[in-house]
Amino acid sequence: MEVILVTGANRGIGLALTRVLLASEIVVIAGCRRPDESAELKQLILSYPETLDLIKCDLECEQELLEEAEASLKRRRKLDVIVNNAGTMPEGGNESIMNIDLDLLWRAFNTNVLGTARVIRAFYPLLVESQRPRIVNVSSSLGSFQPGRATTITPIRPPRLR
Ligand SMILES: NC(=O)c1ccc[n+]([C@@H]2O[C@H](COP(=O)([O-])OP(=O)(O)OC[C@H]3O[C@@H](n4cnc5c(N)ncnc54)[C@H](OP(=O)(O)O)[C@@H]3O)[C@@H](O)[C@H]2O)c1
Repeated sequence: MEVILVTGANRGIGLALTRVLLASEIVVIAGCRRPDESAELKQLILSYPETLDLIKCDLECEQELLEEAEASLKRRRKLDVIVNNAGTMPEGGNESIMNIDLDLLWRAFNTNVLGTARVIRAFYPLLVESQRPRIVNVSSSLGSFQPGRATTITPIRPPRLR
């Protein structure tokens, strides 16, 4: 059976994807920051006790990710797909580069870029055990420098100069 890790699985797209994958008889490792507080995921485990693993997955905690990956390796032996879905946008998206709070930019970068790298590094040892390893990075047209490629929505331009 395919084994897929979904980050940010407690709500939004991550939760919807988790539901669809489980219904398709795929093993899902559902990662979120506070598994104990996710009523939806705890409910799903009752329906899919053999194919759903609920793990703690804070993109800012490298050590925690390494420990969870080690436990997943012991339990599932391999990982076929990492879906880097978790993401954040603490800034408004239309601020000027001249007055945007740089702490907000740092938080976005730390989660969306470095956090994604932390997940890949931690789970890489499982991924190499797969016959067909894949990494899916969920992005946004807001993060694209190539307008109009995959969508008719025009992406927001890089930070304004004024
Ligand atoms: N919805 C859209 O229209 C849209 C459009 C374009 C792209 N996307 C992309 O699709 C992905 C999911 O979007 P969504 O709308 O489902 O977002 P969402 O409802 O805001 O959910 C974001 C998820 O990411 C998690 N997350 C945030 N920071 C985290 C961290 N440091 N460590 C671990 N998890 C963290 C959140 O966990 P908590 O619950 O703990 O905060 C939550 O599970 C994102 O990458 C987003 O950029 C979405």
